Amino acid sequence: MSIVPFERQTNGQRVVFGAGAARSRLGAEIERLGSKRVLVVAGPASRPLAEELTARLPVAGFVADVRMHVPIEAAGRARDQAVSAGADLLLSIGGGSTTGTAKAVALTSGLPILAVPTTYAGSEVTPVWGLTEAGRKTTGTDPLVLPRTVIYDPELTLGLPDELTVASGLNALAHCIDSQWAPRANPVDTALAHEGARALMTGLPLVHADGKDLAGRTQVLYGAYLAGLSFAGAGSGLHHKICHVLGGAYNLPHAQTHAVVLPHVLALKGTADALTELLALYDAIGAPRALRDLGMPESAVGEAARLVVEAAPIPLAAAEQLIHDAWSGRLPSAGPSGEAARREQYVTDQVLRSFADAPEPRFKQVMEALVRHSHAFVRDVRLTEAEWQAAIGFLTRAGHITDDRRQEFILLSDVLGLSMLTIAVNQPPEPGATEATVFGPFFVAGAPAVPYGGDVAQEANGQPCWVDGVVRGGDGRPVAGARIDVWEADEDGRYDVQYGDDRTAGRGHLLTDEWGRYGFWCVTPTPYPIPHDGPVGDLLTAAGRGPMRAAHLHFMVTAAGFHRLVTHIFVRGDTYQDSDAVFGVKESLVVDFTEQEPDTPNPTGRELDGTWTRTQFDIVLIDLGEPA
Ligand code: BEZ
Ligand code: FE
Repeated sequence: MSIVPFERQTNGQRVVFGAGAARSRLGAEIERLGSKRVLVVAGPASRPLAEELTARLPVAGFVADVRMHVPIEAAGRARDQAVSAGADLLLSIGGGSTTGTAKAVALTSGLPILAVPTTYAGSEVTPVWGLTEAGRKTTGTDPLVLPRTVIYDPELTLGLPDELTVASGLNALAHCIDSQWAPRANPVDTALAHEGARALMTGLPLVHADGKDLAGRTQVLYGAYLAGLSFAGAGSGLHHKICHVLGGAYNLPHAQTHAVVLPHVLALKGTADALTELLALYDAIGAPRALRDLGMPESAVGEAARLVVEAAPIPLAAAEQLIHDAWSGRLPSAGPSGEAARREQYVTDQVLRSFADAPEPRFKQVMEALVRHSHAFVRDVRLTEAEWQAAIGFLTRAGHITDDRRQEFILLSDVLGLSMLTIAVNQPPEPGATEATVFGPFFVAGAPAVPYGGDVAQEANGQPCWVDGVVRGGDGRPVAGARIDVWEADEDGRYDVQYGDDRTAGRGHLLTDEWGRYGFWCVTPTPYPIPHDGPVGDLLTAAGRGPMRAAHLHFMVTAAGFHRLVTHIFVRGDTYQDSDAVFGVKESLVVDFTEQEPDTPNPTGRELDGTWTRTQFDIVLIDLGEPA
């Protein structure tokens, strides 16, 4: 590794490390600091240990009110206690919140701290403090709060429950990993982080297997110390930004959140080898995997991703994927390492080269992108051979079921959102123009001509519906002679081509008059299922998705000098408006179909014996020559 220029601050702090050090060395270290009145900060869980360790020492009192994120009121009370007891030293014995409470007192009192950590939090080696006021956490850095002395005694961690050991140990590992992407990253802290990670990865499986394994405990505590140092030196990176956001917004437990998020960040930023190692460790020590198990609701996933994007330089789609995977417990896949990865890449490169001389540039561009993306997909999901066989079987069935009347591939494109995406790419919104939506598989060329006021329903059953409107160009002028093709399903949810006979019903074409007007009778659209008795139906079932389309009427409008428009109108208030199986609904295409009494005068004086509906749909086409 070449050594780049760097700046680094070494913090002055004395460290005493060793099994039994707390019992054998605490008195001497207190004396060394010249203290005569020690205020002991220890939460209820550490109190018996704190009393035992300080039994023969000059104790001036105990602070027992230790809480996560250090509420400012609790810090104030502890500071008052320090003043009234005439304390000259703060002795913290416990985990990160205990050290944090002592730091909060030091911040305003200037008292020195002697820290005896009992977890792997690492706070004892940083000058960073944190306080919470009215639910808002403030953090800062002040050399005053850096403990003067730390006594690391692995014996004190022998009783740490497994769950906490694992979470706290992985929090330390996160310090090692994140410090390498941090703003002040430098070779010294990277070296400390590597040795810290090595010690943690050696020790954690041992202490998970046996919490009383002193050698394992020693490795983990040593690793946690180095982790804290590297973090103090280099600062925090993407991982901590994400955890900070999640912890703050959803009050999630600190160490566990770090443990859950770490593999996902490593998958984004690290190497395949590092991720493989981490995932093996997670397996070995039963690491926490899902934010949902820590109390985060699924409904918060989208908001959390947006908060992360505000705090960290990461694209929204990546943040959404990361948070969702971390929420659900889906671990990232490591991919292969070393030689295997090179062989995979070799396959892709060979195929890419085979298109290098394709003469038609657009074909070459599209095919190369197809190869890159499809190969990346196979690598990304680690596609199994059985899955690839299943995919080929699926496409084969789609081919077999497709004929002149059934188009399974359009259905597939539709339910995957590829049809709507292609429309979005090619027809970006044009101010004032009517929006496009899916074509669908049921258009039939050569539908009968219908005059103004005619009925396209013919044999199709359903409630009569009158539709009229005007077709205009972008300049507002009416378009005469525009051809409007319309098609729709009947009230039983079927298009004519889905019946086994040769009927033509529910479709037709009209021409606009010289004022751009059109008007016709049809049937009121009703929701219907897309054909789901084939492979696409199986796919929907496997996804737990329904096949229903929101009620709609299809339009295709063509006119000389204008772009062709393929669209629908949707019935406002329809049940499936928000869950259309092919993602076709656009707000601007949702219109009112108002119900009318049988005897309400209708536009063509038609005899009606039941209720009917009417709607109006004015269409604005995009001129050719303007950007489409
Ligand atoms: C349709 O509306 O006709 C349709 C669109 C996409 C898939 C299936 C049907
Ligand atoms: Fe349709």
